[in-house]
Amino acid sequence: MCGIVAATASRNIVPVLIEGLTRLEYRGYDSAGIAVLNPTLTRLRSVGRVAELAAQAEGQVAHHGIAHTRWATHGVPSERNAHPHVSAGLAVVHNGIIENYAELKQELLAAGYVFTSDTDTEVIAHLIQETLKSDGDLFAAVRRATARLIGAYAIAVLREWDESLVVARHGAPLLLGLGEDGNYAASDASALLQVTRRMIYLEDGDIAELRRDAIRIVGAGGTAMRIPEDRAVHESTLSADDVELGEYTHYMQKEIFEQPQALAATLELIGGAQAVSPNLFGVAAPEMLSGLRSVLILACGTSFHAGLVARYWIEQLAGVPCSVEIASEYRYRASVANPEQLVVAISQSGETADTLASIKHAKAQGMGRTLAICNVPESAIVRECALRFLTRAGPEIGVASTKAFTTQLAALFLLAVTLARQAGRLSAEQEAGHLAALRHLPVAVQKVLALEPAIKAWAGRFADKQHALFLGRGHHYPIALEGALKLKEISYIHAEGYPAGELKHGPLALVDKNMPVISIAPNDALLEKLKSNLKEVAARGGELYVFADADSVFDEEAGLHVLRLPEHYGLLSPVLHVVPLQLLSYHVALVKGTDVDKPRNLAKSVTVE
Ligand code: G6P
Repeated sequence: MCGIVAATASRNIVPVLIEGLTRLEYRGYDSAGIAVLNPTLTRLRSVGRVAELAAQAEGQVAHHGIAHTRWATHGVPSERNAHPHVSAGLAVVHNGIIENYAELKQELLAAGYVFTSDTDTEVIAHLIQETLKSDGDLFAAVRRATARLIGAYAIAVLREWDESLVVARHGAPLLLGLGEDGNYAASDASALLQVTRRMIYLEDGDIAELRRDAIRIVGAGGTAMRIPEDRAVHESTLSADDVELGEYTHYMQKEIFEQPQALAATLELIGGAQAVSPNLFGVAAPEMLSGLRSVLILACGTSFHAGLVARYWIEQLAGVPCSVEIASEYRYRASVANPEQLVVAISQSGETADTLASIKHAKAQGMGRTLAICNVPESAIVRECALRFLTRAGPEIGVASTKAFTTQLAALFLLAVTLARQAGRLSAEQEAGHLAALRHLPVAVQKVLALEPAIKAWAGRFADKQHALFLGRGHHYPIALEGALKLKEISYIHAEGYPAGELKHGPLALVDKNMPVISIAPNDALLEKLKSNLKEVAARGGELYVFADADSVFDEEAGLHVLRLPEHYGLLSPVLHVVPLQLLSYHVALVKGTDVDKPRNLAKSVTVE
């Protein structure tokens, strides 16, 4: 989604802004722009790729500037709607949504301001300009103006002839980068690694002033924040290599193949232990996880599918009832609060607006036992929860989530084992067995990745199809949902995931020779039932693509294509079975020539509702 970079430094900051925007491209965007001071304002904007903006900015030199990648919310993707938005020598970039923009716009129109875009952001620019009339200080004006905004925002503001940049955040991420030769701000640490590793994460309500040689931060209550006492300086451990493509063509491809190491890094947290410790989830975990009556998992997208798998594990291993809900539904539903329930937020980015709001909603209802399973330390969701488990997938750039998903599954399996132990439902031998199976995952996933050539050979048969159906049963049903999501996200083929037993209650009507049916068929207790479901497809002329285990038995028949995973993996099998589906969607997208890492209309971090 939208990205912000801002810089004030003794070096030429134009290349820094452009490089920062390039680093933020993965979040998803449709247009980009920069505003720099020389010392008057120059604004450049373009629809499409950052490379086009870079070409326009060639030769520009400045020491003070703000930049933005936009993912359209208010107003179509176009140059006039691209940020920065200006108001007489003042420029603003903004992530988030201003909910009361229409009302403010009326007021500003009445005061004589002329609007040149359809965005909510332009309202912020004029509002600060208007506030400056009675208060010449930019910092004070931003404070007073933002106090009138309702909604979520991260903004960066500059104005002609002013030596300072002002940034503010409320409900959307923003961090400061402390450099040797200046100070910087961005919505994501990866944009600033090029100039510094020293970062301060701003909190909601913070407003900061950046000068070349100084920064100051004022918190929500209006008090000056002391650095590092009130706002710690973090040394980012992200490496520039983590966000480089290296030998790969696409980030999604790189991230699929990084899964063995992402899992291994995440599982380092348990080392060679034979038993789990609740402390894995934080110091308060032993107390918070004890005596649990139920678990509620909240998430969106792929993270929601990880939650659906976890429900099978938690109920089977720990005997604790578990419900899983889409965060955007839960946050507005009149649900029944249960303070004894553990609320688990799953999020790769830790920024997803609905997931964050759903946790706040649960807390507001007195549900204080909260756990974040997240890939980004210091993210808003991590900070909102009492307990945390940080997956170590490394930065995930491709919009379609892959390695974040499998590491989330590893974390959730550890949670299930921990809850089972707390409930006294595991023998020492069973517990050690589950941990050993987890530790073997990186090797097992590596073997599944070796199926790539066979999957690639299948991909060509999907590229001309309009629809596809994914079937699974039991704890592989969520994997069918995830397989369908992957295919639609990056290849734009309409795909649906179904529990195989539900086939005859509707989707069977769609099956014909033009509708490929992909089935996950591990050798588990439901295999024979699944085979009967597949017969129903074959009888209607459907083409079946089956991902089976090495030891699943299938009779050869026309229209049935079977690929076997090397190992049969029991409870953790969903972690393996999702991998061929990721590869399938990747290769179908390659054949179709779609933009794999930045699929149309989608964003990596969904920081708006
Ligand atoms: C977006 C991304 C998905 C992701 C979902 C939830 O839709 O494109 O890949 O699964 O958001 O994101 P989160 O960061 O909360 O896991």
